[in-house]
Amino acid sequence: MTQALKSVDQIPTVEYTPESLYNRLPQFVAWARELGPVVKQDWPDGGRVVYLIGAEANKLVMQSQREQFSHDLGWTPNIGETLGKGLLNMDPPEHDRHRKMMNPAFAIAYMSRYLPVMNRLISERARDWVERGEVDLFEETRKITFDVAAETLVGFRAGPQVDLLRELFFKLINGDGQQFASEAEWMQSVLPIRDRLMGELVRLIEARRGIPADDRSDILAMMVNARDEDGNGLSVEQMLGHVNILLVAGHETTTTLSAWLLYLLSTHPQQLAVVQAEVEALAGREGEITLEAVRAMKQLGYAVQEAGRMYPPVAMVPRGVLEDVEFGGYLLPKGTFVFLPIGAAHWDAAIFPNPERFEPERFAPPREEDKRTPYALATFGGGPRICIGVNFARVEVTAMAAEILRRFTLTPVAPEEVRQIYPGIIGQPEKGIRVRVEAR
Ligand code: HEM
Repeated sequence: MTQALKSVDQIPTVEYTPESLYNRLPQFVAWARELGPVVKQDWPDGGRVVYLIGAEANKLVMQSQREQFSHDLGWTPNIGETLGKGLLNMDPPEHDRHRKMMNPAFAIAYMSRYLPVMNRLISERARDWVERGEVDLFEETRKITFDVAAETLVGFRAGPQVDLLRELFFKLINGDGQQFASEAEWMQSVLPIRDRLMGELVRLIEARRGIPADDRSDILAMMVNARDEDGNGLSVEQMLGHVNILLVAGHETTTTLSAWLLYLLSTHPQQLAVVQAEVEALAGREGEITLEAVRAMKQLGYAVQEAGRMYPPVAMVPRGVLEDVEFGGYLLPKGTFVFLPIGAAHWDAAIFPNPERFEPERFAPPREEDKRTPYALATFGGGPRICIGVNFARVEVTAMAAEILRRFTLTPVAPEEVRQIYPGIIGQPEKGIRVRVEAR
């Protein structure tokens, strides 16, 4: 006889402590070990969230039972009001139509168009680093990744207009440094920023109308020219939602990953030497870095994976349950709000021994620790809804690290201040990452 499933009320309840902001991922591992892979948290306003923890949970939500978990019901309450509707918070069949339209622009072959733009923007932004003597990697990588996203994805050229958009997005997502008593109060404060940002973007989108269909150089041009079977195009509101989500998803995450990667390599001389030797062998000390070279940089690739394992920019992803689903002996009824802490398994010592150690070689043969447990490494999500920008991000982060590490020696100024904070879904180095820069 099968055992009766337990109800949501019977799921063990957990509570955050102030320290949870910093050790969120190891904490999920500890909860799962102590209480099982399903735990819940009750919010003061009467809301409740269920956490599904570990590689098995990742597989359930992202692959085997994914139709039962809605992106729309999960993400829209988190980002819908500020960003609108894009791929991330759409469900099928609408999602699948839109993803099909965008997929070609994210295929690896397409990266040969983007890489020269990335190379140019990386060099321009890093040009004065030595002169400045000290920079904050987190600030600098944000400038680079936003310039890159703005130009490659939506054709906005770097300059004061793009700087303004970056600052507005930053305020919209991260706030203005102010504290708010309630979500409503916070919303009140961001609405004028959102309206200003949307006004700027609509102007830029409108300016793109009328560009001939054969000049599809970026995704915005693709969207402007897209027609369904009845000949209808996307509305400005639909394009705006996509542009917002592509710009945010396309730079917040790569900013954090590249800042951590540069920091980790700069504080691990042995691994740094291996990476620098590889970069020099494949791309020399100067000149254009080709896609072929980027793709051949295996050691740097392992370091990128390791930085993403230790400090995944996206700690967890939200979902709404669409149909009753079972997991870990519990019945999760339709309507349950779920968080999948995709990065929890990254800190599980049973999968990645000594998870606190930066060891890129754990991804190289013969260790290949990620391959032993499917869905354990989920920096970019997984299954059919895996990050559409995964190739884009890997190429960008690799090219950026290669260029910076072949030109400069970076020395962290205050390593004791460098730590990742996860206020919610997205993580970032709390006080930035300040480094001294010298020419090599
Ligand atoms: C280090 C960089 C990045 C990380 C860690 C990252 C992480 C993720 C994750 C975990 C998801 C899955 C979300 C879920 O299952 O709910 C996702 C989806 C997505 N990402 Fe990324 N991402 C990165 C870079 C990018 C870039 C560069 C772009 C665009 C250029 C992008 C655009 C998107 C979009 C549009 C989705 C939704 C895809 C869909 O649902 O069909 N991301 N990303």
